[in-house]
Amino acid sequence: MFYSFCLLSRMFYVHILMFLCCRSQDVPFFPVTSSGSALFVVASNFISNQSFTADFSTVKPGCSVVSTETVGNYNLLRDNFQKQCSWTVNPQLMKGSVLLKLESVNLCPKETVTLYQGLSESGTIKLATLTNKDNKKVVPLFSSPAKSGIKVVVNQNGANCSQNTTSKTVISAYYSIKAKDCTGILSTPNGEITSPEFPNQYPLNSRCTWKTPLLNKKVFYFSLNQMQLNNIHYLNISMLKNSTPKQLVSYTGKTLPPDFLVSLINKTVIVNFDATSNGLGKKITTTDQGFDMSYRYLDCGGYFTQSTGKFGIPKASTANTECIWIVKLPKTGANQTTNIVSFNLTSSSMAAVKKNVVIRDGGSVRDNMLIFNTTKDGVKSILSRTNFLWVKYTFKKEDSNMAASGFTFNLEYKTYNWKCNGVDDCGDNTDEQNCAKGGETKEEGVKVYIVVIVALLCFAIGVVLTIILPAIYKRIRYPNYSQLKDMMEPSVA
Ligand SMILES: *[C@@H]1O[C@H](CO)[C@@H](O)[C@H](O)[C@H]1NC(C)=O
Ligand SMILES: *[C@@H]1O[C@H](CO)[C@@H](O)[C@H](O)[C@H]1NC(C)=O
Ligand SMILES: *[C@@H]1O[C@H](CO)[C@@H](O)[C@H](O)[C@H]1NC(C)=O
Ligand SMILES: *[C@@H]1O[C@H](CO)[C@@H](O)[C@H](O)[C@H]1NC(C)=O
Ligand SMILES: *[C@@H]1O[C@H](CO)[C@@H](O)[C@H](O)[C@H]1NC(C)=O
Ligand SMILES: *[C@@H]1O[C@H](CO)[C@@H](O)[C@H](O)[C@H]1NC(C)=O
Ligand SMILES: *[C@@H]1O[C@H](CO)[C@@H](O)[C@H](O)[C@H]1NC(C)=O
Ligand SMILES: *[C@@H]1O[C@H](CO)[C@@H](O)[C@H](O)[C@H]1NC(C)=O
Repeated sequence: MFYSFCLLSRMFYVHILMFLCCRSQDVPFFPVTSSGSALFVVASNFISNQSFTADFSTVKPGCSVVSTETVGNYNLLRDNFQKQCSWTVNPQLMKGSVLLKLESVNLCPKETVTLYQGLSESGTIKLATLTNKDNKKVVPLFSSPAKSGIKVVVNQNGANCSQNTTSKTVISAYYSIKAKDCTGILSTPNGEITSPEFPNQYPLNSRCTWKTPLLNKKVFYFSLNQMQLNNIHYLNISMLKNSTPKQLVSYTGKTLPPDFLVSLINKTVIVNFDATSNGLGKKITTTDQGFDMSYRYLDCGGYFTQSTGKFGIPKASTANTECIWIVKLPKTGANQTTNIVSFNLTSSSMAAVKKNVVIRDGGSVRDNMLIFNTTKDGVKSILSRTNFLWVKYTFKKEDSNMAASGFTFNLEYKTYNWKCNGVDDCGDNTDEQNCAKGGETKEEGVKVYIVVIVALLCFAIGVVLTIILPAIYKRIRYPNYSQLKDMMEPSVA
């Protein structure tokens, strides 16, 4: 049930333009154009009564072009533009993606350029439609899976403006193949993943998927180093447990989020980058720089989201160990900034804590380290500045001193309400002002308020007495005097 045919272009130094090997039903039909004035078709392996039909017609050079190489370009001259022209990019590869760049677009009113993922009349996804409004715009790169290809269709739609434009080209574009997909298994113990083309702008219609392998590590951790996404494009993290996917978090926009931790026990974690959007096909969507993320697999760690809690290394490690914990207090207060973390830390060796435990004032490795003095018995009542605390413990087997000492540590935290707690936490008492129960400060505030109002009222009365009243008086006595406004000007200047 298979047949094949190939199309050879140019008689003498023959090269294969297209080799199709298709099941008779689902052939993707699309126009094939030779690069010269001859086309040679070979059909073979037909059995019994199988058949095919094809039409041919003469086209102006450069109007309808088929490209199958790993790079190519298209330059449609206005002189060659007949009703509809198209560029078919069909690299015939199973892996990788096509990156297409529209370099210049010079359309007249009514004319359109439409980009599709896929080549056949059906089964294509419309990526964008450009009109003459897009003539001067910088159009982002477009991406499409190499196995689907890209089709660019230029339509006159009845416009005839050969006399009206000075530009000789209608559109010019080029493409290249990116052999590697932005998809894979995160198999190294730690690494970095980025959006396609990072640090340049990511192509529209990019789609990437990375998965964690089955490992004997317990926790998957990542931190975003950069994130600049158009807010209709997403970086989604989901997990697959008993083959049921569940979205854990979805990032977009430009605000870097806190670091992320998730248990890996009996789970696969999936990182998805999704730069497709419902806007595609309607108008051009802009892209941005994308993201850059560092990940690692950890032996222990996790979130603490209760208002109090404790964690640590209760039993000395013997193997290489790396753990990260993130305390994330429930937020309260006007700007959700009222709660901070207060913690006490004890350890078998505070010297080893200095070397092997890092505590950051925030929810990310990007945040500053918390500076505090240690005593032999540990540290007490250390305050963070945010409602987050980031704690990392690293143990290396080679570190024989530490292994011998049987290092353990314990961190106990609680929520600290620094506003209106009767303690001058800020040093200038600002955290204790305007408190509902702290009567004195509140009354003082009201008094200041009243003083201001009284001062304003006195000023207003003064203005009425000194300027407006004499003016009205003059206006009544000398009616042909000019306007009230003029009277006031000297006193303003
Ligand atoms: C081809 O032959 C088969 C049986 O030999 C027949 O069923 C089918 O209708 C034929 N198709 C055409 C297009 O003639
Ligand atoms: C477009 O206009 C030019 C002159 O204005 C004319 O020669 C040409 O035939 C027209 N083309 C079509 C397709 O109408
Ligand atoms: C050509 O330009 C003239 C004047 O700017 C305009 O009136 C006319 O509609 C244009 N023709 C086309 C086909 O765009
Ligand atoms: C990512 O998450 C957003 C928002 O929840 C959703 O609209 C989008 O479809 C998701 N994309 C993928 C590929 O899961
Ligand atoms: C993980 O899966 C294994 C095998 O299916 C099972 O024995 C084990 O209890 C599971 N662990 C957890 C924490 O669910
Ligand atoms: C909350 O934030 C706004 C704007 O950033 C600020 O004006 C206001 O004073 C803040 N309120 C408190 C209680 O910090
Ligand atoms: C640490 O101790 C030194 C000397 O006792 C003191 O000057 C410094 O302010 C302390 N630092 C902190 C963060 O408490
Ligand atoms: C830390 O120690 C101090 C003094 O012993 C105690 O008042 C405080 O409640 C402790 N904090 C935590 C979080 O356990």
